[in-house]
Amino acid sequence: MNPACSRWKRSCAPCDGPFYIELPLRPSKNWTRCPHPVTVITFWENLLRNLRQNGATTPFFVFSPYPVEQALKSLSTIEKTVPVPVRHWFPCKAQPLAPLLDWWRRQNRPIEVASDFELMAARKLGFQPENILLNGPCKTWLNRFEDLRGLRVNIDSENELGAILSLAKELDWSLGVRCLTSEEKDPDNPGCPTQFGLEPNKAVNVLRKLTRERVRLETIHFHLRTNVESAEAYQRAIEQVAGICRAAQFKPGYLDVGGGLPPPWIKSRSGEYLDSKMKLSALAPVLAKAVDLFPGLREIWMENGRFLTARSGVLVTMIRDKKVRRGVQQLICDGGRTLNAMPSVWEKHATFVLQPRYSRLVQSIVYGPTCMAFDQLGQMMLPSSLRIGDDLVWMDAGAYHLQWETHFSHGHAEIWWHEDSRVQKVRSNGQFSAWWVNLGG
Ligand SMILES: Cc1ncc(COP(=O)(O)O)c(C=O)c1O
Repeated sequence: MNPACSRWKRSCAPCDGPFYIELPLRPSKNWTRCPHPVTVITFWENLLRNLRQNGATTPFFVFSPYPVEQALKSLSTIEKTVPVPVRHWFPCKAQPLAPLLDWWRRQNRPIEVASDFELMAARKLGFQPENILLNGPCKTWLNRFEDLRGLRVNIDSENELGAILSLAKELDWSLGVRCLTSEEKDPDNPGCPTQFGLEPNKAVNVLRKLTRERVRLETIHFHLRTNVESAEAYQRAIEQVAGICRAAQFKPGYLDVGGGLPPPWIKSRSGEYLDSKMKLSALAPVLAKAVDLFPGLREIWMENGRFLTARSGVLVTMIRDKKVRRGVQQLICDGGRTLNAMPSVWEKHATFVLQPRYSRLVQSIVYGPTCMAFDQLGQMMLPSSLRIGDDLVWMDAGAYHLQWETHFSHGHAEIWWHEDSRVQKVRSNGQFSAWWVNLGG
């Protein structure tokens, strides 16, 4: 048997589906294509052993830019097919981690921000205004900022346009319009549109008004939702925004198709892989054909957060107590859903044990330390011999985990950053004083 596979079986859950890695991760030379992400596991295993020996205390996150690099490489399928340049904007909201944003800036790549704090973070890290795309709703706070000549802004509503138009002219902003296509639905109420963007007739009016006002109008934009199921959804949305542009006689330089690509290796609560139907090889021709629908198009923009960053980090929690009830192994850990991993509400992530534990796999539930039955990282098969003091590694913790942390009865987890074969602690675990101040103490 492939020793790598037996190792995966020994300590990993879930192990019941096709796991694929697209490319070997740096820095190991020996990693090959494998139906299980053993190479990925090995990367994290080595890193985590090193960290545990060097003083990391649970719960902690560790993040690395190399998996992001791999994700970018896999997007080159699209870049090779599309006849205009494809620009990737980093959605700050997906993983607003300072060293990662800084790494991204050092790659000469641009950032998408959706709040005043995210804009301040981008400026603090040295992103130039033309490499910042301001997106999202409620941008009426914008006049509080200086030094933003050349910023890029996607307008979300007519009210917002009224609030920022004079500033946009004065500071020569490059403007775009976010359209609400019929493809964009509230995932929790699929019958309802979301609250974002402009409906087609309003988008046409706003585009006409901006043309009359002679501002720098360059972009047409939509963002469907997270974990878009298939390339066809993008195709239908692109056709709708092409119709909006024709009606407004607007020829955009940039088509911004938003984010929403699902990450690999993560399952929905119902047990299906999030990316089971979304193939980059199917999306590439859809985007290539889009170029014909927008005469004069210069670039396609993408804003994928989850796809780029989910794989870039893991959460390590220690088993602090163990109970066996009705044949189920209950593992109570020092980190969990409530404090660190809100996406566990709707996602199942692979979890493995850092210590070697050779034994039968049994039904297990991994809990966090708070007094909430809700505080469950997930139900999974894990070795029956797990002990108090073992480390459980929750994979793919790199998107929307830090943003959704809470301080429920406990302080924040440590954060470690791995780059150029070095690891460094970039946030210490939360102390009582910080926790108390947060609560008005
Ligand atoms: C406008 C916009 N772009 C990009 C993203 C990133 O989405 P995802 O992480 O699903 O790719 C979001 C997420 O909310 C968004 O609202």
